Amino acid sequence: MSSVLFVCLGNICRSPMAEGLFRFKLAERGIEGIEVDSAGTAAYHEGEPPDPRTREVLSRHGIHYPMTARQVRDADFDRYEYILAMDRANLADLQSRCPASLSDRLHLVLHGEAGAGESDVPDPYYGGPQGFERVFGMLDTALDGWLDRVLDRTDGAGRATPR
Ligand code: 4NP
Repeated sequence: MSSVLFVCLGNICRSPMAEGLFRFKLAERGIEGIEVDSAGTAAYHEGEPPDPRTREVLSRHGIHYPMTARQVRDADFDRYEYILAMDRANLADLQSRCPASLSDRLHLVLHGEAGAGESDVPDPYYGGPQGFERVFGMLDTALDGWLDRVLDRTDGAGRATPR
């Protein structure tokens, strides 16, 4: 079984958007057995639902999953095969906490596709609603790349294939 954890700062804007969109892509393709979650490097919003602007964008795209913000835990590094950071600050925070033996699990989410030019999914928290739609568009493309990459290592139903 494969597993993916999306990480941003607060776990209320970008990473829950990625989690919802990735769950939706898996469901559209009838893929079960891939564990998906999201978390924040900070605990500011622990226990809260996603930001209303994230919920609005997801809802507009027909995506409805209950989600609750939580902070990254030490156990996440062992549990998740792919840990995908929204920006370089999130990645640096994760690198400082992750055991060296597991650090190859950490990636920038925008490096999911070959040739992706930008490194960071911009934090939309202090901006307007258009920033959230832009984040959705960036994630939509990047997550297709990650889906291919994760499925390359599975039998298509989420089970890891030997190699
Ligand atoms: P996120 O956005 O990291 O995409 O969830 C933020 C949410 C809250 C804060 C910063 C970024 N904050 O400072 O409270």
